[in-house]
Amino acid sequence: MKIGCPTEIKPQEFRVGLTPNAAQEAIGHGHSVIVQSGAGAGAGFEDEAYRAVGAEIAGSAEEVFEAAEMIVKVKEPQAGERKMLREGQLLFTYLHLAPDPEQTRDLMASGCTAIAYETVTDGKGGLPLLAPMSEVAGKLAPQVGAWTLQKANGGRGVLMGGVPGVGPAKVAVIGGGVVGIHAARVAAGMGADVTVLDRSLPRMRYLDDVFGGSFKTMFASAGNTEEIAREADMVIGAVLIPGAAAPKLISRAQLSEMKPGAALVDVAIDQGGCFETSKATTHADPIYEVDGIMHYCVANMPGAVARTSTIALGNATMPFLLALADKGWKQACAEDENLLNGLNVHGGKLTYAAVGEALGIDVEDAKGLVGA
Ligand SMILES: NC(=O)c1ccc[n+]([C@@H]2O[C@H](COP(=O)([O-])OP(=O)(O)OC[C@H]3O[C@@H](n4cnc5c(N)ncnc54)[C@H](O)[C@@H]3O)[C@@H](O)[C@H]2O)c1
Repeated sequence: MKIGCPTEIKPQEFRVGLTPNAAQEAIGHGHSVIVQSGAGAGAGFEDEAYRAVGAEIAGSAEEVFEAAEMIVKVKEPQAGERKMLREGQLLFTYLHLAPDPEQTRDLMASGCTAIAYETVTDGKGGLPLLAPMSEVAGKLAPQVGAWTLQKANGGRGVLMGGVPGVGPAKVAVIGGGVVGIHAARVAAGMGADVTVLDRSLPRMRYLDDVFGGSFKTMFASAGNTEEIAREADMVIGAVLIPGAAAPKLISRAQLSEMKPGAALVDVAIDQGGCFETSKATTHADPIYEVDGIMHYCVANMPGAVARTSTIALGNATMPFLLALADKGWKQACAEDENLLNGLNVHGGKLTYAAVGEALGIDVEDAKGLVGA
C-alpha cells in the first residue's frame, strides 16, 4: 500500500502523523511511504530522516494526497485537505466528528473511508489512541502549574518541593484516571504534597495500592473538594465523564476562599473545563487571572511537547497502521473489533452511532459493511 503523510496545517499543530520509525516499519512490511517535505520538522524529524529509511519526499500536500492510498495524519483534515480526499482512499487520524457537521458532510461526500483514532478501543474499556495524549497532558500539568505558581507569572510564589525547613506545595488532582495518575506522579516526584480525588472507589483502591506511599486519595464529594481547594496551592482538573461535558467542580464563589495566587490547571478544558471560571487558552497566552486565582487552560497541551507527543502517538498507532496497510481496511477491521470501532465514515455513509445521534444523520452498521 502507498502510505502518505502530509504536513499538519491546523494552527499551533507541530506533530506529524508518521515518524521515521513508523515509516521504516511500514516499508519493512513491503509498503511505500510518501511524506510531504517539512512534515516532521515541528517534531524534530527532518526530511533526511525519512529519506534514510526509504521514504519518498513530496514537494506539496497535493502530491501526497494524489499518490497515497492511505493518508495518515494527526488532526482532522481541514477544509482544503478534505477537497483532496477521494473515493476509496483511506484516512487514519483524529476526527472528532460529533461537534463538526461540516467536516462530517465533507468526508461523506469525498467517498473516502475514515478511521478515527479517538474511537478505536482496546477491549478493556480504554481508548488506546487517546491514552498517550492523556499521559502527556497529565505529566505536563504539574510542570506548567509550577511555572504558573511563580511570582512573576502572577502565582503564589510557592516552590513545589519546598526546601529544608519550608514545606512543599499542596497539590490536589481531581480525577484519578490517565491524566490524573500521571499528574499526581510528577507532582509527587517534584516533592509536592499530593492528594488525588475521584468518585470511583475501585480507582482509588488501585491508586492507594500502587501509589499509597507517594500520594493520598480522597473521595471527590462536593464538601471534600471544597475543603481541599481552600488549602491547595495548585488544583489540577482531570475528570472525564465519557460523552458528556465536564462537571463544574469549583465555582467562581469558591475562588475567594482559595489562597491568593493559587493555580488552577484545567486539563479537562477540551471537554468544557471542570472549573466554572475556565476558558480555553493557547500556548501563546496560556494563563489568566480571575479573583486572584491563576488559571492555565490550554486545550491542546500535548502540542507543547510535539516531539514526545508525536513519538508516543506513533507507538500507539503503529500496530493499527500496519494492520490496515497489510490487510486493507476491510479485512483488518473484520478481524479486529477494536479497529472496527474506529470506522466513522465509508463510501458516503456515516458508520459511527454516537456521531449519527449527535448530528441527526442515519448510520450504516459498520459490522455489516465488513461482514463481521
Ligand atoms: N487539555 C489537553 O490537552 C488534554 C489532553 C488529554 C486529555 N485531556 C482531557 O483530560 C480529561 C481526563 O482524561 P483522562 O484520559 O484522564 O480520562 P479518564 O477517563 O482516564 O479519567 C477520568 C477520571 O475522572 C473521574 N471522575 C469523573 N467524574 C468525576 C468527578 N465528578 N469528580 C472526581 N473524579 C471524577 C473518573 O472516575 C476517572 O477516574 C478529559 O477531559 C480529557 O479530554 C485534555
